[in-house]
Amino acid sequence: MTEIERFEPTRTIERNLAMELVRVTEAAAINAGRWMGKGNKEMVDQAAVDAMRHAVDGVDMHGVVVIGEGEKDEAPMLYIGEEIGNGNKPDLDVAVDPVDGTRLLALGLPGALAVVATAERGTMYSAPQGVYYMQKIAVGSAFKHVIDINAPIMVNLDRIARVKQAHIDDLTVVILDRPRHQEMIREIREAGARIRLITDGDVAAAIQAAMDEYSGIDVMFGIGGAPEAVLAAAALKCLDGEIQTKIWPRTDEERARFIAEGIDLERVFRTDDLVSGEDICFAATGITSGELLDGVQYHGKGARTSSIMMRSRSGTVRYIQARHTWRKNSSGVLASE
Ligand code: FBP
Repeated sequence: MTEIERFEPTRTIERNLAMELVRVTEAAAINAGRWMGKGNKEMVDQAAVDAMRHAVDGVDMHGVVVIGEGEKDEAPMLYIGEEIGNGNKPDLDVAVDPVDGTRLLALGLPGALAVVATAERGTMYSAPQGVYYMQKIAVGSAFKHVIDINAPIMVNLDRIARVKQAHIDDLTVVILDRPRHQEMIREIREAGARIRLITDGDVAAAIQAAMDEYSGIDVMFGIGGAPEAVLAAAALKCLDGEIQTKIWPRTDEERARFIAEGIDLERVFRTDDLVSGEDICFAATGITSGELLDGVQYHGKGARTSSIMMRSRSGTVRYIQARHTWRKNSSGVLASE
């Protein structure tokens, strides 16, 4: 077989799907980006959800929302269990986060993204109702076999440094700036690693950790949203990275309730437990400019977007800069296609 033959397209449907998902995140980003800095978290979310819901209808798939905006009664669109797409094959699980970093966008701060991922039906983990947070550690391919969420932070940093043939003080850790992370931050500082505190957006942070060679971020630690853990796992599966997570109760009362409900708080969910499929597509579009992606820029006749698209089967990562031109749609509204 020649080199060229080996690089023949594998599965056209899957490749097209990944491209269609970018259109979905672009639509969400363009609509939500209008609300940048206006201080209105509800409208930020609403604008992204409306556009994403509309765009996803055109996607060639029979999708079911596994990670979405919540239960049906509280979320009129993109609720968990909602069927989306045009109903054609393939049957897929869909994870959406129309805005990861709602507060960032509402305040005009860097790093808000629109995110969507798909995997074969029945292969995405859905946390039990009432579970909001997971403890997480995420790294790239080089360190995936040495991390252990149950080991002390110092041990994880030491192992990563050894693989990297570096000192711990050469490492950069990304972690959400939250009071619950005080002890972890103290341990990281004591170990000597550098820290990037972020105010929101741990999906982008996990992706950056998995792209350590480009981002300069070696590892992400911390407690963040359970849905975001699944989205990060979808991306990390495409990047051959690793995320390990554990369900994290916010209070003693919550801990007791979870245990009474039979939730195993010691169980470690690895990348493959969070997304067990093998055909994963992931797309994200920047809404406000951050380190991973540029934000939406508007001009009189359209907008510019910057997106990332990944597929697990091929391991391809594409960055897509798009120039959108407003066209009048059937309702006479100027919109991009
Ligand atoms: P939202 O955009 O849904 O608000 O999520 C932003 C985020 O920073 C996530 O990236 C992260 O997983 C989660 O919030 C952390 O939760 P909290 O802000 O409650 O600490």
